[in-house]
Amino acid sequence: MKWFAAVEEVRRFSRAARQAGRRIGLVPTMGYLHDGHLALVRALKAEADVVILSIFVNPLQFAPHEDFERYPRDMERDRRLAEAAGVDAVFAPDVAEMYPVAAETYVEIPTLSARLDGESRPTHFRGVTTVVTKLFLAIEPDVAAFGQKDAQQAVIIKRMVRELLFPVRIVVVPTVREPDGLALSSRNVYLGPEERRAAPALWRALQTGEARIRRGERDPAAVEAAMAGVMAAEPLVRPEYARVLNLDELVSVPTVAGRLLLAVAARVGPARLIDNLCLEVEGDTVRPTLP
Ligand code: PAF
Repeated sequence: MKWFAAVEEVRRFSRAARQAGRRIGLVPTMGYLHDGHLALVRALKAEADVVILSIFVNPLQFAPHEDFERYPRDMERDRRLAEAAGVDAVFAPDVAEMYPVAAETYVEIPTLSARLDGESRPTHFRGVTTVVTKLFLAIEPDVAAFGQKDAQQAVIIKRMVRELLFPVRIVVVPTVREPDGLALSSRNVYLGPEERRAAPALWRALQTGEARIRRGERDPAAVEAAMAGVMAAEPLVRPEYARVLNLDELVSVPTVAGRLLLAVAARVGPARLIDNLCLEVEGDTVRPTLP
């Protein structure tokens, strides 16, 4: 497995592979890899001949009071996991390589970025779209994979790719869960043992929302109240939101129909956790879907 820290080097590697007729896949990550990331690698190995995994904890997507400094990092472990998963090359730049001068040029979709998580993290998605643009320019992938776990991020990246005419196909991969339903996330390491036991309340809330819809509930407010109730019943969980939104526009819906995002967020101890379910509702038919 190759390891690059410089944009020049990874671009040379990617261009040489393309010239040899190979399709390039990119899995962008912030490292501290878990099985959710490895599922992205597996998905891309079916779509691309060469899989490049980027590891970069992007300061631009963290607000000053957020967890940039203490975000978990372990390059040696990441190297082993990436290699075992069949990654062909890792691109792990430092901050000076990605931001040689203080960032003043941003890529931003203001409407979608202000909704849902953007309400409490107003500069987060601008940081994501800016760094993903830079990764696309550095690596020039044919296809890139993002997890359903960050559904709003996936919706925003797909919109950005369409708007900016990036020649990159976006693949969204279903969330990987612990046996008790907790969505895998690098931030789960912040949970103490009691908080870890409480955290699957987010998944139970989503399942309750889905069950209500499958039983015929079509009032979004009733589904949201049911989801919020499940989280509120868990003393260590401090719910932030429970929403039923249109999956493509991330806006409220008048009735439970069409492509929907059931999204929840809560504080559990020091961690802010998010989770979601994506459903397509057509009359009585309810099917899972993806952003
Ligand atoms: O999902 C993430 O880990 C990050 O937001 C991403 C896409 C790697 C950009 O920093």
